[in-house]
Amino acid sequence: MDCVYKNPSAPIEERVKDLLSRMTLDEKIGQMTQIERGVATLSVITELSIGSILSVGGSAPYEDAPSEAWADMVDGFQKAALGSRLGIPLLYGVDAIHGNNNVYGATIFPQNVGLGATRDADLAQKIGMVTALEVRACGINYNFAPCVAVCKDPRWGRCYESYGEETELIRKMTSIVTGLQGQPPPGYPKNYPFLSGSDKVVACAKHFVGDGGTERGINEGNTISSYDDLERIHIAPYIDCISQGVCTVMASYSKWNGCHLHASHFLLTEVLKEKLGFKGFVITDSEALDRLYHPHGSNYDQSILTAINAGIDMVMVPFRYQLFLDHLRCLVESGKIPMTRIDDAVERILRVKFVSGAFENPLSDRSLLDTVGCNHHRELARVAVRKSLVLLKNGKDITKPFLPLDRKAKRILLAGKHADDLGFQCGGWTKTWEGMGGRITIGTTILDAMKDAVGGETEVVYEENPSPDTFASQDFSYSIVVVGEPPYCESGGDSQDLRIPLGGEELISLVADRVPTLVILISGRPLYIEPLLLEKMDAFVAAWLPGTEGAGITDVIFGDFEFQGRLPMTWFKSVDQLPMHQERNSYEPLFPFGYGLTSKNKVL
Ligand code: GLC
Repeated sequence: MDCVYKNPSAPIEERVKDLLSRMTLDEKIGQMTQIERGVATLSVITELSIGSILSVGGSAPYEDAPSEAWADMVDGFQKAALGSRLGIPLLYGVDAIHGNNNVYGATIFPQNVGLGATRDADLAQKIGMVTALEVRACGINYNFAPCVAVCKDPRWGRCYESYGEETELIRKMTSIVTGLQGQPPPGYPKNYPFLSGSDKVVACAKHFVGDGGTERGINEGNTISSYDDLERIHIAPYIDCISQGVCTVMASYSKWNGCHLHASHFLLTEVLKEKLGFKGFVITDSEALDRLYHPHGSNYDQSILTAINAGIDMVMVPFRYQLFLDHLRCLVESGKIPMTRIDDAVERILRVKFVSGAFENPLSDRSLLDTVGCNHHRELARVAVRKSLVLLKNGKDITKPFLPLDRKAKRILLAGKHADDLGFQCGGWTKTWEGMGGRITIGTTILDAMKDAVGGETEVVYEENPSPDTFASQDFSYSIVVVGEPPYCESGGDSQDLRIPLGGEELISLVADRVPTLVILISGRPLYIEPLLLEKMDAFVAAWLPGTEGAGITDVIFGDFEFQGRLPMTWFKSVDQLPMHQERNSYEPLFPFGYGLTSKNKVL
């Protein structure tokens, strides 16, 4: 307690200044370094004063590791950091982008595109609070969320990580930041990082800036626009995040008018830090400094020089940390990177760590473990699923709505792999980086939910791949066909044709030609719907990527709750129209941005 920086009642800025004054160059650059858990030995953490560790993608202590195993792992890393000369605690970062999605048994919420369909800022904030709880239960104190991309083209593989195509919608949903970090009290310093307690996490607004505006939706591509348009469309949500006290911002892999965001002093320093007044820290994306030049990894020295001088404060290395540290040390000692830049970066990192309470509460709070995947959290996720569903067609004759369905029908055909696959329901960033099919965690598939929802006399026949024979021997009152996309992530999700994959189109035709059919689409974005196919459907629901609580879907299709979701993205007629949004001259969508029906065919 003899040092100011160890005194919790001392003003944050005095603690920052005191601690910075005690640090060696090696300790300073160590704090600017984020490494992957797989290379983080206890001695490296202690000796190099590493500032942060992360789980890249789905990197976990072991497969299906429960929260307690995560907490044990993170506490181990933290104790190593506390054992360093100055005892500076770690930030441990994960991508908990729709719940604590790496952790077995955690509550998995609808992906952001589905939350965008709800337009419910309070819901987003509550989801942030629950996510923070389930993340902190694992000892983790840093979350690389929210993604506040404005997705201007559904061909982008990360469309589902965005709340939608319209800036004002994304701005509204930034309320998740105060859910994750807590609400700054009246009179709190403007644009200053905030965090309110040991059940909150450091948030990260990403990916700054224009990640959702690239040409043809190419991931990590190039956003071409005037500065005014960039600010009006893509920067605006960051203003809301900063005003809510967001602690960190992640730079985008993408480029603006051909300039890498990670190399842009104008955008990272002059705009983000000076014009917008951001006082937290800017972190790179994973291995982003390896990608500034081609081939990847080349000119690493030059990449570090450019990025740090542009305004990067912490580098998500995450593997070749010794090479990074050696280069950075040389660049500082040679004067190519001024010490003032290093001090600014480290001040920002320390500021966030002091604000986060990590010095006072560095270790996991095991009393939170029971909150992970608890019924209360799953009920919130179920509410989110209900509110996210968008009804796009209800009845071949709108005066005769097809929904709500009769739960006491004699026999119902449920068809399609997506009707009984929890991994498909959750999408990417779930259990693993790219996601995967199967019963990947604890949750409720649509088939599970159907069995609970229908009457005791009703028979539900599930066929993943029905054939004409399915219909030869039995009659069905109606069918529910669930099709869509398999899980994907980042560039793996980029698509230029946006067709319903996995034989979904054929499945719809096979069933709808024989039985009255509701089609439910499980996807990260609007997909191409052939006009004849839409005509065959008796009803059509966009369910996005709902997460673990599939009962939210049956709640609505059987009429216990009304549809209220509205499109967060324009539904195109043809990919040749893309990019198409209301700002464009020719706007002739299949369904416009904001469209959605009630079960009585009233336009919301
Ligand atoms: C990824 C993503 C970023 C994520 C980071 C850490 O490449 O672009 O959104 O937070 O790496 O997993």
